[in-house]
Amino acid sequence: MDLSVQIAPKSPRGLLLNNPVMTASGTFGYGTEDSHMYDIQKLGAIVCKGTTLEPRDGNPQPRVAETASGMLNSIGLENIGVNALIKEKAPVWAGWQVPVIVNIAGETVEEHARVAGLLDNVDGISGIEVNISSPNLKGGGAEFGVNPDTAAEVTEAVRKVTSLPVLVKLTPSAPDITAVARAVAEAGADALTLINTLKGMAIDIHARRPVLGNVTGGLSGPAIKPVALYMVYEAAGVVDIPIIGCGGIATAGDALEFIMAGATAIQAGTAGFSNPHAPLDILEGIELFMEKEGIDSLSDLIGAARR
Ligand SMILES: Cc1cc2nc3c(=O)[nH]c(=O)nc-3n(C[C@H](O)[C@H](O)[C@H](O)COP(=O)(O)O)c2cc1C
Repeated sequence: MDLSVQIAPKSPRGLLLNNPVMTASGTFGYGTEDSHMYDIQKLGAIVCKGTTLEPRDGNPQPRVAETASGMLNSIGLENIGVNALIKEKAPVWAGWQVPVIVNIAGETVEEHARVAGLLDNVDGISGIEVNISSPNLKGGGAEFGVNPDTAAEVTEAVRKVTSLPVLVKLTPSAPDITAVARAVAEAGADALTLINTLKGMAIDIHARRPVLGNVTGGLSGPAIKPVALYMVYEAAGVVDIPIIGCGGIATAGDALEFIMAGATAIQAGTAGFSNPHAPLDILEGIELFMEKEGIDSLSDLIGAARR
């Protein structure tokens, strides 16, 4: 049975995954934290925590809140900064079989390019995922991703400074997801990740105050799955680069829906908080489904619901 997928076919380096199951940025740290739970080398790829030029402390507490069928987070890109990542994390990843993709963010176009430039040719880093979709970064993140022109500008700036495969992560807040998908693909992205969280909030009625210290946060988990699936389906109809589906994926069935909608690979995020084994369970469930249905190659399922 062949579960391998190529998620950067246009890149000279390419990015071939043994299977389509990835972890979503910000929900799996640097991969080093969960390495004792199960054999993480079995995963298709790991996407690490969002990384900026300088270290960041993130937003005021509280930064997470549970919601019906999901959660809100306003972490605000707390991270160790790109230089510490290169010095402390990349050497560990260099010894791993599973590819690690570094998720990057910035407040300006130049900051994205500087972070991406520093990561080029660093051993242990197999790709870059550009987060132009965070609802928790003032003056960056989703502010770039809602507009096709600014989304393309960031993509182009990153593309220029790296030979690594470039994934660009889109926001569901874009008024026209197909316009942003097209613009980013034309600007040189190797793949698209859809979707980041949806902006939301919760109020503590006894305190009569917003629950999150930052007032608003990003909604993730099963609640957003139908939105994410629809956006993957839409984007897959207008671009010829791979799409990585993300948003509320908790089971193999969820993952297969995204693959049939046109995703080449998937990411699981919030599901890992309630079931740390979720990524592996998803992988095993996909294998079981293919076995039962007599499917030898995962590529036969990609976009199956579109034909
Ligand atoms: C606690 C938390 C932190 C996150 N941090 C990042 C981040 O640093 N960069 C990023 O691009 N997305 C980040 N995300 C978004 C996820 O990668 C993912 O796009 C989103 O949660 C939807 O997928 P899910 O429903 O499977 O979690 C974060 C999500 C959560 C819940």
